[in-house]
Formats: sequence, structure tokens, C-alpha cells
Amino acid sequence: MSKSFIGKACTSVFFILLIQSAFARSSKLSKQKSPCKTFTLYLHDTLFNVTNAANATSTAITNATGISNFQFGTLIVFDDPLTLDQHILSSPVARAQGFFFYDMKTRYMLDYQGTLNLMGADLMDQKTRDISVVGGTGDFFMTRGIATLRTDTTQGFAYFRLKLNIKLYECYY
Ligand SMILES: *[C@@H]1O[C@H](CO)[C@@H](O)[C@H](O)[C@H]1NC(C)=O
Ligand SMILES: *[C@@H]1O[C@H](CO)[C@@H](O)[C@H](O)[C@H]1NC(C)=O
Ligand SMILES: *[C@@H]1O[C@H](CO)[C@@H](O)[C@H](O)[C@H]1NC(C)=O
Repeated sequence: MSKSFIGKACTSVFFILLIQSAFARSSKLSKQKSPCKTFTLYLHDTLFNVTNAANATSTAITNATGISNFQFGTLIVFDDPLTLDQHILSSPVARAQGFFFYDMKTRYMLDYQGTLNLMGADLMDQKTRDISVVGGTGDFFMTRGIATLRTDTTQGFAYFRLKLNIKLYECYY
């Protein structure tokens, strides 16, 4: 991949980051709300395997990179039916359309205590960039906030370090 391509991609691409946390638990102030609506759906995903084009509802659009054992780098797009029961042939009540990708290179040897979901555009020519903390699980249940990113150092395209200053404005724990 050429450097000019990488440079362009970095300024235009949306920045999606999932932080699996190993932070110490903060004191639990149980302000947790109960849900205003709950429902259960079954999502049926049939991966395209060259011979099942008629029935496939998802397909890989990149191949794994080979630098890990966890499909690292594979991007899958899907248009999956959602049903009220487990039967794949039941009438769909909704569809889930989107993509997922494999972004775990190694397994962490840390206790799982939740996730923080960050999303936004990383305008890399600006000194600091705010991206949204759109949610979380576990210790970060339903949180929202802002992460301010600052490029701490770079070494060409080979390495960069970001400083993330995370400010949560809604905390239930
Ligand atoms: C692809 O999927 C279809 C439907 O599940 C299955 O019958 C077929 O054996 C699969 N082909 C390969 C190459 O895995
Ligand atoms: C597609 O699904 C139908 C219904 O389950 C099945 O009869 C058919 O064999 C499937 N075709 C392929 C190519 O998997
Ligand atoms: C992945 O690699 C296989 C085998 O080299 C190739 O047939 C396939 O087209 C590749 N798929 C993508 C999405 O690049």
C-alpha cells in the first residue's frame, strides 16, 4: 500500500475504537435505570462460501492478513434476517444490515470488565480532535462522553502514539 494512499485514508476515514477495559472498578453507585422496552430477536447469518450465493446473507470483502490467528483484518458485510423464533425460515420482522470486522490480534490476559465504544471522524491535521463516547458495557454501562485525541508522536507511517483524554458525562456506576 503506498504512503500517499495511507495518508489520504487516515484523514477521511471514520475512527472506530472499542476499548476493552482492564481499569479498576470505580465505586458502584447504583443509579442503573431499568429498560423502557425489551425484546428478543434471532439474527440468522449465512456466510457466502462460493456455492451458496442464493442463500448467503453475508460475505467477506477482505481476507485475513495472516499476522494473527484470529482472522485479523477480515471485513464482513451482512444483510441478515431477524426473526422472533429460532427458525431461519420464519418471516423476518426486521433486518440487520451492516458490517463487522475482526480487530483482535491477540487475546488479552486481563479480566473483562466492560467496553467503551468510541466513534467519530479523526481529523488528523488538527492538533486535538474530539470523538464521541457513544456507549459502554460493564463498568461503563450506558456511558456517554467525549474523547479528546492528541497525536503524541509519529515515526512516518510506521508508528504513532495517541493520547486519549476521556471525559465521561454520564455514568451509572
Ligand atoms: C456452502 O454452504 C452450503 C449451504 O450451507 C453447503 O451446502 C455447502 O456444502 C457449502 N460449501 C462449502 C464449499 O463449504
Ligand atoms: C437455500 O435454502 C433453502 C431453504 O432452506 C434450501 O432448500 C436450499 O438448499 C439452500 N440452498 C443453498 C445453495 O444452500
Ligand atoms: C481471499 O483469498 C482467496 C484465496 O487466495 C481468494 O480466492 C479470494 O478471492 C480472496 N478474497 C478476498 C475478499 O480478497
